[in-house]
Amino acid sequence: MAVEQTYLMIKPDAVARGQVGRIVSRIEDTGLQILRMELATLTAQQAAANYAEHEGKPFYEGLISYITSGPVVKLLVSGEGAVAVCRKLMGATNPADAAPGTIRGDFGLSVDANVIHGSDSVESAEREVALFFG
Ligand code: RTP
Ligand code: MG
Repeated sequence: MAVEQTYLMIKPDAVARGQVGRIVSRIEDTGLQILRMELATLTAQQAAANYAEHEGKPFYEGLISYITSGPVVKLLVSGEGAVAVCRKLMGATNPADAAPGTIRGDFGLSVDANVIHGSDSVESAEREVALFFG
């Protein structure tokens, strides 16, 4: 497997509930390296660019207003197979379907407030890292 970079983002509900430390620990426990980490509130433009693939879907407007509703933690993570390792660590999109031991399985509240975003491919990761870290 190749060394990859991926973009992770701890979503506003988890930041508001004080879960950043525990979630970051789980990322560190994988052995992947955190290269950048920053608290920020997304602009509407950044949110729209990140979720462009979902434009027009019934949940799109709610997703954009939720993800811009408060600060998030942006993370640039690197290591062997980082994209797939992080998607596995995150768990299924809907916390109700996410396995125990995954971040969404353990911390997620609902399909909207599902704690964490992670790039879904190496191509998405390159785009998202450029969008959020320049
Ligand atoms: P993310 O992009 O946030 O890492 O999540 P994901 O890849 O697991 O899921 P994706 O299909 O990309 O969906 C993006 C976000 O939209 C919300 N969603 N709601 N109500 C619904 O049916 C529905 N489907 C997706 C979720 O908050 C999901 O994280
Ligand atoms: Mg996605």
